[in-house]
Amino acid sequence: MTKRETFGSSFGVLAAAAGSAIGLGNIWKFPYITGENGGAAFVLVYLICIALVGVPVMFAELLIGRRTQSASVGAFKALAPKQAWFLTGWFGVVAAFMILSFYGVVAGWTLNYTYLSVTNQFAGATPEQISKMFDSFITNGTQPIFWQMIFMVMTAFIVLSGVKDGIEKYSKIMMPMLFVIVVVLAIRGMTLDGASKGIDFLLTPDFSKLTAQSVLVALGHCFFTLSLGMGAMLVYGSYTGKTQSLGKLALQVTLADTAIALLAGLAIFPAVFAFGVNPGQGPGLAFVTLPNVFNQMPGGYFFAIAFFVLLAVAALTSAISLLEVLVTFLCEEFKFGRIMATIVATLTSSVLGVLCALSMSPTSGVSKLKFPTLAGPQNFFDTMDWWSSNMLLPLGGLLVIVFAGWFMKPADVRDELSSQGLYAVKWFKAFQIAARFIAPIAIVVVLVAKISGKIS
Ligand code: TRP
Repeated sequence: MTKRETFGSSFGVLAAAAGSAIGLGNIWKFPYITGENGGAAFVLVYLICIALVGVPVMFAELLIGRRTQSASVGAFKALAPKQAWFLTGWFGVVAAFMILSFYGVVAGWTLNYTYLSVTNQFAGATPEQISKMFDSFITNGTQPIFWQMIFMVMTAFIVLSGVKDGIEKYSKIMMPMLFVIVVVLAIRGMTLDGASKGIDFLLTPDFSKLTAQSVLVALGHCFFTLSLGMGAMLVYGSYTGKTQSLGKLALQVTLADTAIALLAGLAIFPAVFAFGVNPGQGPGLAFVTLPNVFNQMPGGYFFAIAFFVLLAVAALTSAISLLEVLVTFLCEEFKFGRIMATIVATLTSSVLGVLCALSMSPTSGVSKLKFPTLAGPQNFFDTMDWWSSNMLLPLGGLLVIVFAGWFMKPADVRDELSSQGLYAVKWFKAFQIAARFIAPIAIVVVLVAKISGKIS
């Protein structure tokens, strides 16, 4: 076997894995689904999912990847030859195409917002005007597609320059910077006049607002935000050095990701209430709220630029991991060269992305098409998101965790988690209980309840 490329340092691995996890999921998606699902009770369910399901699944993906030194499909073929487990990898590939399609569009929004910040277009605008700017932008059709294309080309470019030089280099500097900026924004958010309503919304649970549909959304988001259930962490596991502690890596990534999401919530919800934005207004929430916050800050002009640049970079380090899954898949399963694989995967997901962008533009035919989901008919953008996040990722996570819990030899699992005995994995029993029972049962209960229509 040829030696696989590995990350240069343990901080590099952490930065790359955290770079994959931290992205639009934390700052764009988490706040808006929290707003749509009633606030704190939803946040609580989400945190429970992270602890009981997310963490064990992350262990499982990292260990399978490092053990087999290959991407998802190849990993399952190596560990369970001639069995159907490799289909897990295929589900992941489908999910990656779907996620990358709408992800590229929203990432394009962040580029446009960078441009709007640099040209100082928010200054002096009222909350209503800021909200109108967002609407006229996303319904415009061509502009979102323009920015999406730029973003996809940037993603492809970094994936082409290789794992170590590309992903690691960018994540290492930018992730800590993003963290600092979000902390500053959270402080500004919480000190706005009228902030307390927003803090309550985020932190004081009202369980009457929790519908069973929200439980599925919380579970789906736990996979989405941690980049689980489609083989992204599995590929990163395969790039991780043999002496690294997988346990530490998984916990650090999870903590960083969760912290950023909660901080983003603290930056956004106080402002939502202070400026009279509707918390349930959907995918535009962060974009129609934060410019108001920048307008209320000394140096807001520079903060706005820094924030949108860093958000675009966070999106980039996440999109890289989605594209990387597709590229390794095409290279390993269909013997594509890396350049060809990158071009094919980028083009395919960009075309799907164009449909996502057009589905928000009332003048395009695409916006009239509605597609079935278990939460009712939705436009193309929301359909891609709904099926990938709420069905394919939990299903992929279920297969991975059942495989690690029940089908791999416990001795092998332990060997890999302990880096061949280098670390004492005192928590191994706890991992096994989570992998065999808690996580699979939780996922199955939520999925079955939804599919059988008990939830809705
Ligand atoms: N986790 C990223 C975010 O929160 C998105 C992402 C990157 C992702 N890679 C993934 C989601 C793999 C699911 C699977 O923005």
